[in-house]
Amino acid sequence: MESTSQDIRINKKLFGDNFKWGVSVAAFQIEGACDAEGKGASIWDVFAAKKGKILNGDDPAISCDFYNQYKQDIDLIKQLNIQCFRFSISWTRILPNGTGEVNQAGIDFYNSVINYCLEQGVEPWVTIYHWDLPHALELKGGWTNRDVVEWFKAFATICAKNFGDRVKNWMVMNEPGVFTGAGYFLGIHAPGRTGLRNFLPAIHHAVLCMAAGGRILRDLVKDAHIGTTFSCSYVEPHTDKQKDVNAAKRVDALLNRLFIEPVLGLGYPVHEVSALKDIEKYFQPGDKDLMKFDFDFIGVQNYTREIVKNSFFTPYVGASLVKAEKRGVPLTNMKWEVYPPSIYQMIKQFNNYPQIKSIYITENGAAFPDQVTDGMVDDPKRVEYLKSYLEQVLRAKNEGLKVDGYFIWTLTDNFEWAEGYHPRFGIIHVDFETQQRIVKSSGHWYADFLKGN
Ligand code: NOJ
Repeated sequence: MESTSQDIRINKKLFGDNFKWGVSVAAFQIEGACDAEGKGASIWDVFAAKKGKILNGDDPAISCDFYNQYKQDIDLIKQLNIQCFRFSISWTRILPNGTGEVNQAGIDFYNSVINYCLEQGVEPWVTIYHWDLPHALELKGGWTNRDVVEWFKAFATICAKNFGDRVKNWMVMNEPGVFTGAGYFLGIHAPGRTGLRNFLPAIHHAVLCMAAGGRILRDLVKDAHIGTTFSCSYVEPHTDKQKDVNAAKRVDALLNRLFIEPVLGLGYPVHEVSALKDIEKYFQPGDKDLMKFDFDFIGVQNYTREIVKNSFFTPYVGASLVKAEKRGVPLTNMKWEVYPPSIYQMIKQFNNYPQIKSIYITENGAAFPDQVTDGMVDDPKRVEYLKSYLEQVLRAKNEGLKVDGYFIWTLTDNFEWAEGYHPRFGIIHVDFETQQRIVKSSGHWYADFLKGN
């Protein structure tokens, strides 16, 4: 096992003055107010209402009520000395039916959030799409319908035109690998569809949207700093046997290369994952160029690593994950292995693409079972997790690799998709009954760290 470099002691200065520090959230996970002031239903509103889809039947309708509590939460960001706030725009707050008429209340809400951030000296970093497709569009085929490219362009144009005068840092999409894989192949996320015939067109259309969104922002937003974000996990073979090594290569292609490579003009990694070869069926003339965009930065989101072995019986990839639980390694509440060198390895892997200009860690964090004791939440495991991952970010930076910022996932405990409210990722504890916030020790630690202590 690789060293976790416990000898590197981190402090903010070591990352340099231009390094950005932030915290990330997503609209659907925090806002609540699921049908307030004209908001339409998203695929997640509909999926979560179905029986058995969300652990414990947890209901996202109120969540942390950011829609009403945003001032208080942005005040907390400021109090914790956090410079950048990454949040996403709910498509159906702005376009309740996905296309057509704009809901002014939705525009007003994001204007208020953006303006309040700026008044507090907090930099808004906006993600256009963080998984909450309008349900009305899903009824027309959602991500499998090529028309989604036009629907998405119209939505991105509205965001750019309404917010681009004040928002300069943009991310077109969040983790396309997860919303297509979990939502259109495995069926465990909204909209709950399965199989390659849904997955392949969803992948291709998501790639076209990412690039199209980049071009729209470039055209409409002066001085825009444009990125898009990817989930990634460091993949290692279970043994040195060639079969496992090859299996690990296939999983790496699927988890870490599938979306970045077409955007960089390298095409889909069809050689490694032969199941992808039919993706060309969804191509139209000119797509090879339309898939590309020269992003200013790439958001790398990392939590863990995966150990992979050959598996004859697993369709399409012929590989399976050796669960962290079975490996006797430290785990988070998501049953993900705590493995700090993973973030270093992913920074390194993305640095291998010379076309990438800049890399930000746009998410990293951990869920642990926090407890409120005497009005306080002491979460030493999260503090240790964050410190040890940051040491690895610094290790990468010290080796001269590109890495220009770090955002913690996440500000407040929130709705963790199909896992409901059970995994608490926040550096601020939320009592979902009373909406009371308590800054955890990890929040205080981050504040101190960012102060330069
Ligand atoms: C990935 C996603 O972007 C975010 O929505 C999710 O809550 C975290 N990682 C943790 O799973």
